[in-house]
Amino acid sequence: MAFVERVFSGVQPTGNLHLGNYLGAIVNFVKMQETHNCIYCVVDMHALTQGIDVWGGPTELARNTREVTAAFLAAGIDPKKHIVFNQSQVAGHAELTWIFNCVARIGWLSRMTQFKEKAGKDRENASVGLYDYPVLMAADILLYHATHVPVGEDQKQHLELSRDIAQKFNNDFADSIRAHGIADGLFFPLPEPMITGPATRVMSLRDGTKKMSKSDASDYSRINLTDDADTIAQKIRKAKTDPEPLPTEEKGLETRPEADNLVGIFAALSGRSKQQVLSDFGGGQFSAFKNALVELCVVKLAPIASEMKRLVADPGHVDAILVDGANRAREIAEANMVKTKDIVGFVRKA
Ligand code: TYM
Repeated sequence: MAFVERVFSGVQPTGNLHLGNYLGAIVNFVKMQETHNCIYCVVDMHALTQGIDVWGGPTELARNTREVTAAFLAAGIDPKKHIVFNQSQVAGHAELTWIFNCVARIGWLSRMTQFKEKAGKDRENASVGLYDYPVLMAADILLYHATHVPVGEDQKQHLELSRDIAQKFNNDFADSIRAHGIADGLFFPLPEPMITGPATRVMSLRDGTKKMSKSDASDYSRINLTDDADTIAQKIRKAKTDPEPLPTEEKGLETRPEADNLVGIFAALSGRSKQQVLSDFGGGQFSAFKNALVELCVVKLAPIASEMKRLVADPGHVDAILVDGANRAREIAEANMVKTKDIVGFVRKA
């Protein structure tokens, strides 16, 4: 089947949306609107996979769902031309997950590094949902037959699993797929990860070897999209560096994770390459570079923070956008689910 190109991606409403989410994912969501039909999802069902201490309980979940939506809109996603909605409003995500649960293999899920990291040592006590997280993610994407998925580097393994699930479904049901008129047997596309730009893995400001993360105990490890100018300045000034001046060539960043990270952030925010940034700042001290980085961050992020604040203050407006997006998403999802159920052999009303 010739697949129409379609973009799908998601962000969890687990609070502390940060610069890594913005540069690794949301900036690319905005760009892809120019060339593709896009579906952007606030994955509230994924948020439940960790303990209530992580997702914060029902009131926080609703608040964070609206905040992620606000971030999408403030960053420049157009909910009229494209689709913005929250996952739990479209039942197909859960339905397709069940079918995929019976396609995916336990061995595949056991290899997922994110599960190992998040479950930690107490694996017996992790939720079944946390283990199944990547299957729900595959269902998110394939429910819409999406072909391109913009994500940060940390999601690469999950995207590979989505491709494996799509391929195994196509193989397992090959005869039925053909019998339903799809001559080449390709019912689900194999989705392509789009991991692009100089900041696909933004690191902690306190430790250049650790990923910037929503769950880091230190707020100084990340720049939140809701931080004000003073907080951004403080966090960047305190960011860990090393005693050497900045290198003049990109190669010189290889063994210097903190320098590499800050140069990568500068490059991504200014739309330039790391080498171009080093042509301006290489050979200089971190203090001058940090001043320029503070200025750049504030210029780029302050308008987003203030627009987010404005939107979050009007939950009725945000909810209406999510409902409208869910209605449009559901139409695509339901048509695909009918075909999927027919292929699987589930009897339904004619
Ligand atoms: P989440 O909410 O953890 O992350 C959202 C996006 O932000 C990216 N990201 C980063 N990029 C660069 N540097 C970082 N430090 C950093 N931290 C996070 C993530 O790679 C992601 O793109 N599992 C997904 C949510 C999801 C999804 C999907 C994505 C659910 N279903 C279907 C794509 C397609 C996640 O990591 O969310």
